[in-house]
Amino acid sequence: MEGDEAATLRFVVERKSTGTQKLGDDESYHLVVKTDAVTLTSTEPLGALRGLETLLQLVGVTTQGFAIPAVDITDQPRFPWRGLSLDVSRHFIPFDEIKRTIDGLAMVKMNVFHWHLSDDQGFRIESKRYPRLHEYGSDGLYYTQTQVREVIAYAHDRGVRVVPEFDMPGHATSWLVGYPALATGKGPYKIIRDPGVLTATMDPTKPGTYVFLDGFIGEMTRLFPDAYFHIGGDEVAPKGEWATQPHIAAFMKKNRLQNLDALQTYFNRRILKIVAKYGKKMEGWDEILNPELPKTSMIQSWRGQKSLAEAARQGYSGILSSGYYLDLMQPAGQLYAVDPLKIEPGKDDPAAAPLTAEQQKLILGGEAAMWEELATQENIDAKLWPRTAAIAERLWSAADVTDAAFMYRRLVPVSQWLDGQGMQHVAQLRRMRARLAGPNAALLTEFAAILEPVKGYTRHRAKKYSMNTPFNRLVDSIAPESDAAREFRDATDRFLLMATDPESLRARLLQWRKASTAILPVLSDNALLQEDMEVARAMDDLCAIGLETLDLLRAGKKLTPDRAQNMRASIDGDSKPKADMLIQITPAVRALFERAQP
Ligand code: ACM
Repeated sequence: MEGDEAATLRFVVERKSTGTQKLGDDESYHLVVKTDAVTLTSTEPLGALRGLETLLQLVGVTTQGFAIPAVDITDQPRFPWRGLSLDVSRHFIPFDEIKRTIDGLAMVKMNVFHWHLSDDQGFRIESKRYPRLHEYGSDGLYYTQTQVREVIAYAHDRGVRVVPEFDMPGHATSWLVGYPALATGKGPYKIIRDPGVLTATMDPTKPGTYVFLDGFIGEMTRLFPDAYFHIGGDEVAPKGEWATQPHIAAFMKKNRLQNLDALQTYFNRRILKIVAKYGKKMEGWDEILNPELPKTSMIQSWRGQKSLAEAARQGYSGILSSGYYLDLMQPAGQLYAVDPLKIEPGKDDPAAAPLTAEQQKLILGGEAAMWEELATQENIDAKLWPRTAAIAERLWSAADVTDAAFMYRRLVPVSQWLDGQGMQHVAQLRRMRARLAGPNAALLTEFAAILEPVKGYTRHRAKKYSMNTPFNRLVDSIAPESDAAREFRDATDRFLLMATDPESLRARLLQWRKASTAILPVLSDNALLQEDMEVARAMDDLCAIGLETLDLLRAGKKLTPDRAQNMRASIDGDSKPKADMLIQITPAVRALFERAQP
């Protein structure tokens, strides 16, 4: 298209978009910034959207006003499927927050919003055909179809596809509250308040189940324009009610189904027919993988990279989520190191041959996944951002862009940019800490700056949580990753390598020591914060050990054997989870300690 030659910002888009955004649409762009003009060229509007985000990211302020560095960028994604899977069942995430999340996805050039709309703990979408789904299954917390249409349109305008997931036949208790006839067991069923793998399961033997699901899938496929429809399919094992009901055993015998996996595949094949009848491709978690499943299905791997490679070897397309679980609180660097195509021989897949080029092409990308058993609308942004940006880069950029230190240098300003554009990851936690500590919030923030939530499933194992548990503790009010602790570790590494800058290490340890002492009366006076007193005491101890060993090393001295032995016991104790948190300067302090060994 010809534009105004005098314009300072020109878009050159070769062709119109062709309606609904599809997997594999051209997202490439060419951005040229010169002293007199900016030109953004793309094949499709989608590429222009991606280039526009790059342009916005480049804008800075100088003494003379706004400025953009002169660049010439030719860019396109490595993987066509780059998304976020968001659980809104365990804790509901309201409509406005969903739109904000889509803004964030567009900012980091992700292109799929995977909406995990139903699970045991809540059915989160209005069904006009089966209204008891949302009426009985949601506590009134669900999206209306009008809202869903608005989200889809909003996402479309930002180059993001919306893929709905309705988990079946397990993780499905919320369906059964209003429609117990769908269940294998007798019920009655209630909305589940606890996390976990439940026994309630849809009945794959009753014709009525498929009639119902045909009606439901028909309704939902008319609402969601995307070509993919996700049926969940995870964690039916140990198959719950299927294993205990005689009519299930009889049905399996009659239909020569050898085991419960075969029964699930029978169910999946019938669902696939329905999904296909409505013109959609079926997607499911990797449990649905079975030689009997037609190759048109797509696999989302959560149980490991091995199953993704296995799916590709068998000819299925797939995406990776294993390693990208945001709820496990792993640092950005760890998420960033996970690559859908980097399957470590001997670790991920001991026996297997490398994938052929054809098989590699079946691996379409990945999705960050945020499960909400321990997260709420109040702190959801802090779980998503900025770590999702690191996964987004992994899925967009070349395979050899892997330097974590370089990534972190860029992630810090990206986090500020996301904050400036409206993501709430900084504000949410600040608000929660202000509520916890009132006028002492700044002190609490200083104390909490080197704390992180425990990793993996540790928190689930330490205590029983329900969806009604208040998530209002300090552990809920801190970021998954501490920038201050990471910077301290890097500075300590440099000191141990080159004896650089001990004064700054010393100053930081003194500051945290001061904060850990000053915060004690605030903690002891507050029922919600009292549990953190042991954290403060351990932090004080760690800072003291850090200072003592640092001073010894600077003086060229070593610890005495007795002191070393006591210190090791202290560090071991301090490194254990406290109030579901870790003091993340522990590895750096331990490194100083090890260097000062007699
Ligand atoms: C899953 O995490 N069960 C998909």
